[in-house]
Amino acid sequence: MFNFKAISHPTGNVIVLTGAGISAESGIPTFRGPEGYWTVGSHVYQPQELATWSMFQRNPEAIWAWYLYRHAVCNRAEPNKGHLALVDLERHFQDRFLLITQNVDGLHRRAGTSDDRLYEIHGNIRYMRCSKQCGAPLTSIPDELSDKARGEPLTSDEAAHLHCIQCGAWTRPHVLWFDEYYDEEHFRFHSSLERAAACSLLIIVGTSGATNLPMQIAITATRAGATLIDINPDENPFSELALQTKNGQHLAGNSSELLPLLVEKLAREVN
Ligand code: OAD
Repeated sequence: MFNFKAISHPTGNVIVLTGAGISAESGIPTFRGPEGYWTVGSHVYQPQELATWSMFQRNPEAIWAWYLYRHAVCNRAEPNKGHLALVDLERHFQDRFLLITQNVDGLHRRAGTSDDRLYEIHGNIRYMRCSKQCGAPLTSIPDELSDKARGEPLTSDEAAHLHCIQCGAWTRPHVLWFDEYYDEEHFRFHSSLERAAACSLLIIVGTSGATNLPMQIAITATRAGATLIDINPDENPFSELALQTKNGQHLAGNSSELLPLLVEKLAREVN
């Protein structure tokens, strides 16, 4: 069983870094699990091939049809006890709290995490931006496009809603694609690393550690002396790293069960 007693009250800042695992219990498939977008994909392509700038340039209609379907899946999902526990954690730690998520599903915002204490480092599927970067602001995907079925092609009416109101070019989903790089403007690259260097507790939840920035965040925080707690039913690169930190642990189980327990323990001590 877990030794929650060994987890001591952090004196400094707390960062929580989440991945697809926290939303798995809300019914959103993980990327690399058997039901994941990676392995299931659309009926024609694997997701890794679709989620690229180069594919979007070749076939914006097909990419938008796929994203509107994924958007509909996220829209139907509800935040679970794991997301809600993090809202509670923020309430206790206030400005000492930061949530960094790789998830584009928007469930942390819908659970109630504050916008200014949330970095969505892979974007948010509810938003779109001009593909030509004309300077138009991010906009929400219009409500009338929020119920697309799997495999349904894009209609001309939908396409008309997916053009930039300022310059008329195609809009694109506000997500980081596989052939693109992290930046500060859209994905808070530098801010994430700066904040990681100044935290005393890093809690990593439901991620396999396959992407670059989360790995850099974990290494930066632990080198600076932070305790690392990893919540994940499976072993992963962060669970090994956690054991090398002071009082660090791998809590092997589901986030919807373990996060409320961990948050209760941390909140009890902060009061
Ligand atoms: P993955 O699908 O790679 O990993 C999901 C992790 O969640 C795995 O380690 C599972 O063991 C764990 N998991 C599953 N169910 C869980 C549960 N109930 N509670 C806790 N953990 C659970 O997803 P990510 O690591 O988030 O990026 O993938 C990272 C990034 O890879 C994605 O954001 C995406 C992709 O490249 C982009 O699209 C840019």
